[in-house]
Amino acid sequence: MRTSQPKTIRLSEYKAPAYLVDTVDLRFELFEEGARVHATLAVRRNPESTGAAAPLMLDGDSLKLEQVVLDGKKLAAGDDYEETGAQLVIAKVPARFELTVVTWIEPQNNTRLEGLYKSSGMFCTQCEAEGFRCITYFPDRPDVMARYRTRIEADKASCPVLLSNGNDVERGDLENGRHFVTWEDPFPKPSYLFALVAGDLVEKKDNFTTCSGRDIDLRIYVEARNAAKCEHALDSLKRSMRWDEEVYGREYDLDIFMIVAVDDFNMGAMENKGLNIFNSSCVLASQETATDLAFQRIESIVAHEYFHNWSGNRVTCRDWFQLSLKEGFTVFRDSAFSADMGSPTVKRIEDVTLLRTAQFAEDAGPMAHPVRPASYMEISNFYTLTIYEKGAEVVRMIHTLLGPELFRKGSDLYFERHDGQAVTTDDFVKAMEDASGRDLTQFRLWYDQAGTPVLTVSDAYDAELGIYRLTVQQDIPDTPGQTGKKPQHIPFALGLLGTDGEALPLKLESTEDAANAPTECILELTKASHTFEFHGLAQKPVPSLLRHFSAPARVVYPWTREQLVFLMSHDPDGFNRWDAGQRLAVDVIQSLIGAPEDTEIEPQLVAAYRSLLGDVALDQALVAKMLQLPSEAYLIELADSPDVAAIHRVRERVLGHLAGSLRDDLIDCYHRNASEGSYDLTPESVARRSLRNTALAWLLMINDEAGRDLATLQLQNADNMTDRMGALKALVNSDYAEERSRALEDFYEQFQSDPQVVELWFSVQSSSDRAGQLPQIQSLLKHPAFDWKNPNKIRSVIGVFAGQNLAAFHSPDGSGYGFLADQVCRLDDSNPQIAARLVTPLTRWKKFAPGYSALMRSALEQIRDKPELSADLYEVVHKSLEA
Ligand code: TRP
Ligand code: ZN
Repeated sequence: MRTSQPKTIRLSEYKAPAYLVDTVDLRFELFEEGARVHATLAVRRNPESTGAAAPLMLDGDSLKLEQVVLDGKKLAAGDDYEETGAQLVIAKVPARFELTVVTWIEPQNNTRLEGLYKSSGMFCTQCEAEGFRCITYFPDRPDVMARYRTRIEADKASCPVLLSNGNDVERGDLENGRHFVTWEDPFPKPSYLFALVAGDLVEKKDNFTTCSGRDIDLRIYVEARNAAKCEHALDSLKRSMRWDEEVYGREYDLDIFMIVAVDDFNMGAMENKGLNIFNSSCVLASQETATDLAFQRIESIVAHEYFHNWSGNRVTCRDWFQLSLKEGFTVFRDSAFSADMGSPTVKRIEDVTLLRTAQFAEDAGPMAHPVRPASYMEISNFYTLTIYEKGAEVVRMIHTLLGPELFRKGSDLYFERHDGQAVTTDDFVKAMEDASGRDLTQFRLWYDQAGTPVLTVSDAYDAELGIYRLTVQQDIPDTPGQTGKKPQHIPFALGLLGTDGEALPLKLESTEDAANAPTECILELTKASHTFEFHGLAQKPVPSLLRHFSAPARVVYPWTREQLVFLMSHDPDGFNRWDAGQRLAVDVIQSLIGAPEDTEIEPQLVAAYRSLLGDVALDQALVAKMLQLPSEAYLIELADSPDVAAIHRVRERVLGHLAGSLRDDLIDCYHRNASEGSYDLTPESVARRSLRNTALAWLLMINDEAGRDLATLQLQNADNMTDRMGALKALVNSDYAEERSRALEDFYEQFQSDPQVVELWFSVQSSSDRAGQLPQIQSLLKHPAFDWKNPNKIRSVIGVFAGQNLAAFHSPDGSGYGFLADQVCRLDDSNPQIAARLVTPLTRWKKFAPGYSALMRSALEQIRDKPELSADLYEVVHKSLEA
């Protein structure tokens, strides 16, 4: 905790470690009152580091140091070593030595959830990014890779299960009802991948035979009450293992792979070698308690963490500026996996929605940073949408530019060349270049320049010559600390449509044969402006631009509403069909903002939605996506100086108008998509439930009585959580106040013993402008199920309120901002990582219309003036006030 400015760490100041650690021998004595950690390190001077006899400097945080022994000799404080806040410094050490450090820590009082802590009575760890230093003194940086041996000793009754990375090599009983297990991990790893779990858990077992015929033990460890909720995660794991073999040629390397579910966890999950630790909400699922969305999330997170075994663990990051090396690549991998498991178009729509809503906002805000940042104060603040999602898009563009075969050659070379090493994003790109022979020099700018490129497209048709000219100009906006950016290398996929909706041949040369010309091409933009000519066209085409969202950019082109409606039903690219619908809805909504209340709502929008609702020939999963209006958050992101209340009002009005006009179609849609047979997760079934619940939500938007009765019935009879939540949500967002309270009460009554469902129950309320006004949010914080130590509960009430209940959060009196500021200050003392994440909505103050922004700013100042700000919160608050 601090009042002064935290230190800025710069990539340009990177130095190789002065000392390397070959092996780490750990012994944990776990007690109720704390834990004693004995760490014995085999250390040697790094031959590649300059400065021959540098002092040994080890990182530490919140440690009570009990003993330091060097080559068998006990060292004296002050004389032999110094403990300076965050470091243990030993001035004189030989070129090679053995060091033992004994520390005492208190996991039971650790509310930051970094290092070793307790969650629902079990001991667990979170070491990424810099949590290992909360366990023992260590060179806690990813370019120090060592082999670990870990002995855990604990009370046998309360901690029958003792886990760490690798294979268990020894176990036995000790005095006083205690026991021990020793684990050995044969693969050298950075400290951030260390993990330990000790508690009373049940084991769900499965197995997997690898491509080379090796048998792998798969185990999920959960509290006994969750034993029936592991099947989906285990199935997802097996599918991931198979997929990584088939698509990347990556085989699993240890004989055992374990997953543990933990209730209190700062993020989604963690890829510790051989022992992944998961937020319970990202692993536990049953038909009765998890929504389709949760099932899909679990599948992709299980895959993500598993894929890290190669992209992250076998090949790791040299330093934290390279975070996207593992995260961007791994998100790209898990996203391709999910696309293969379900509907690729729908998966693409979901990824792009997140990117355009949240990452574009980040890239346009005060914390904008490149995929490879140049500096940071607190690394926890850089686990961002830019590192993860934009990072994945950058890898995806390499995949697009190289094509699947050369990309695979590149990934093979990368894994082979760098196995066991800690490397940089540049090494990754180099492997792609070497394997493909392509020059990616300019492409590397994607890693260094922040900001979302804007592609402004204009066109002209020369009827006489039959030439269609398309001009694409790229501009990359200034971001904090970065101005005057260079043009980037952008793959720009497009197609052209004729009047009847036919895909026209794309002839970039007049001599080309139309019959052989492709109907989709990828133009490569490298200059500030390009003009492309398409030959042999008898009419002016309608352009379908940036197909499949081939680059993380904004496209500006003056499509007419007629053209958008046309693209919605004719574009062969499913993604662009969806995008055309989004653009049409955005255009309609934007044009109504500030217009008189009785301004007519575009009839083409109603007509387009009517034909969508009735289109049983089109992929129903795509229809379900196309029916979703752009979110308020996206509309705000697109606006220059958004008036939140006006956006909310107009969007609700359009939704109400659509629902009113399409009332009978919605009832039809509801019945047509009634649940059929038993619950399954095929894209068809998921789409069915999505369509039916959308219909319900719309009907209740207009307080339709038949809709209310359908919702009530569905709530009673549903055999799965998706339908139950669909009905509950619809009722909660209607004006049927009595039904709303009854539904909420009954639901809680029924599911109160299930934390994941209670989190859903909180979110339905905190995201609703009917049930989530500030006084109601305040009372949720006092609800017995709320827990200030549990990040999921905090997110489902405070995070959802500020991130999804936008009209209430941006209440014109500033009460929502003041509320968030109070909660952030309170949380900063117990869990700074969570506090710094929750404050995000306020940091975007500059974007908003003046009335809002002044109030947001003053809420931020209130936080800034709090005594003892964590480094996490300091960085975010100061950067956003000073940007
Ligand atoms: N590496 C983790 C992931 O794949 C991210 C993570 C989990 C994390 N827990 C964390 C990052 C705690 C920082 C702090 O996605
Ligand atoms: Zn990850």
